[in-house]
Order: sequence, then C-alpha cells, then structure tokens
Amino acid sequence: MVRIAIMASGNGTNAEKIMQYFAGSERIKVVLVLTNNAQARVLERARRMNVGAVVFDRYDLYESDNVRVLLEDQADIVVLAGFLWKIPASIIRSFPGRIVNIHPALLPAYGGKGMYGMHVHRAVKEAGEDKTGITIHLVNEDYDKGRVIFQTDVSVLPDDTPDDIAAKVHELEYRYFAPQLEKFIVEQMNL
Ligand code: GAR
Repeated sequence: MVRIAIMASGNGTNAEKIMQYFAGSERIKVVLVLTNNAQARVLERARRMNVGAVVFDRYDLYESDNVRVLLEDQADIVVLAGFLWKIPASIIRSFPGRIVNIHPALLPAYGGKGMYGMHVHRAVKEAGEDKTGITIHLVNEDYDKGRVIFQTDVSVLPDDTPDDIAAKVHELEYRYFAPQLEKFIVEQMNL
C-alpha cells in the first residue's frame, strides 16, 4: 500500500478529486491532508471523505521537525494540491523524487514565486497567450523547476476572461491529476 499525504492551502477541489479517485483503490490510499490554513475548505472535504487532517503553522514547517516527522511517519509520497508555501529542504531530502506538485500553467512559463492560482491566469490573459495548461512535476529546491511528469494544454480564446481560463485549467486538473499520479506511483514505486 502506497500512502499519499496531500498538502493544500485553500479550497481543495483537487485534493477532493484525488481522495475520491483513490477511495476504491487497494494499493494507493490518501491517508492524510495537511493545511497551513485553519479556514481552508479542504478540511471540510477531508472530513467528508473520512481522511485525517492536520493544520500546521510556520513553526511546525520551518522551525521544527513537526511536519517532516509526521510525513515520514505516515506517508510514502507527498502531493501538493494548491499548496502555497515553499517546501523546506529537509522535507525534500526526506522524500527524494516523491513530492509531486500541480501548477496551473505550462511551466517553465508563468512559474516561480508569486505565480499561483488567479495570478497565473491573469498573467496568461495579459500576455495574450492562445494556450495555457497544467504541469504536474516533481518538487525540488528550485521553485517550480523540478522534473516535469506530465503537461497538457488548452486553447485560450480572445474573449476568455481570467475566470474562464481558470475554469478550463481546473477541468484539465480534475481530468488528469489523479490518473497521472497513479501512473507515476505505479511506475516509480514498482507496484
Ligand atoms: C489549482 O489550480 C492548482 O493548480 C493551483 O492552485 C489551485 C488550487 O485549487 N496551484 C498553484 O497555483 C501552485 N503554484 P484547489 O484548491 O481548488 O485544488
């Protein structure tokens, strides 16, 4: 059994899709949701799916081993689904090639610090791009620069608003994130 811990900062719709996707699996299980935001809707989603959830703060992540020890204890792989804080080097070392992030654009474009959620979609709109997409990638110590596992794109039409772009990107995320994670886990962890 491969155990997934999901880290999320906000709404958690991707986290919920992943929990639902693996709910019936016998070899892959979402065991824990971690959030840095006590108000995050992901907490409610985890509760509904009967997945344990933990709220942590900056001290737990950056100034102590609390989050690292919890992850090492409970999970084999860490999935970032709308998680907005930087992962400390100690956790990256503990999970080599085992931390997967989703980014709502075609990296390396529109990546890096400050590029998250609607900021990304507004920047894509302002640049007049005719396509955008999603990137599923490994996390290393360089923000948004780890090895790409999967990318796919979608057209941006001249009349699309940033909200329209966000909706298109979310649709791609819901369709591809969980199955691509499964494929990655099966291939990398010799299931
Ligand atoms: C997702 O679109 C995800 O790609 C993005 O945050 C959103 C979270 O939505 N992540 C980033 O921007 C990371 N840089 P959700 O909470 O509804 O899953």
